[in-house]
Amino acid sequence: MDTPRTARQHLNSGRTASNLNSYAPAAPPSVAQGDITGREDILHLVDTFYTRAFADELIGPIFTEVVHMDLARHMPIMADFWQTVLFKAGLYSRNALAIHFNINAKAPLGLEQFNRWLQLWTNTVDELFSGEKAEMAKVQAHVIAGSLHRRVTGRPASQYSTISMRRPEG
Ligand code: HEM
Repeated sequence: MDTPRTARQHLNSGRTASNLNSYAPAAPPSVAQGDITGREDILHLVDTFYTRAFADELIGPIFTEVVHMDLARHMPIMADFWQTVLFKAGLYSRNALAIHFNINAKAPLGLEQFNRWLQLWTNTVDELFSGEKAEMAKVQAHVIAGSLHRRVTGRPASQYSTISMRRPEG
């Protein structure tokens, strides 16, 4: 059996979900930016990200036409999620996997969609922040996207996912 490895080792090993874009650290930005320090920064990050995701020609319609996502309701949930991932805040205990299973049933979430999501996320993080937590936000997004992609497409679960993802009941 393989020895468990860190997310970064895993991501750099070429053994991520098939063709999902692997994460490679970006060159340090020329303008010094601060790191993500808490909920306010996270709210700024997710707000900027979802504004772009909603406007994206490939994945935007999933938010605006398939799910009719209520951003005002969704923002605090996303902040809970990222505070839990980045700062172990323990605020998020919902079933993100079931939610993406349901979306996938209405509009297939394939590699192209996940890679676009990751591209938008990575660009947004890089534009707004730099530092240890900013790196973690990008690495964890790749790990979770890989896990979501494998699971919604029925591949074996990843041992590297960091949030609780239960199979939907029933
Ligand atoms: C193809 C890529 C993706 C698409 C199109 C997508 C779309 C969506 C949509 C439409 C919702 C709202 C569902 C609802 O309100 O009923 C949602 C919720 C959510 N997404 Fe994604 N998503 C994607 C990838 C990801 C990734 C990679 C992550 C994590 C890194 C993520 C984390 C979440 C979380 C935490 C929620 C909130 C779930 C809850 O309400 O508890 N998503 N997503």
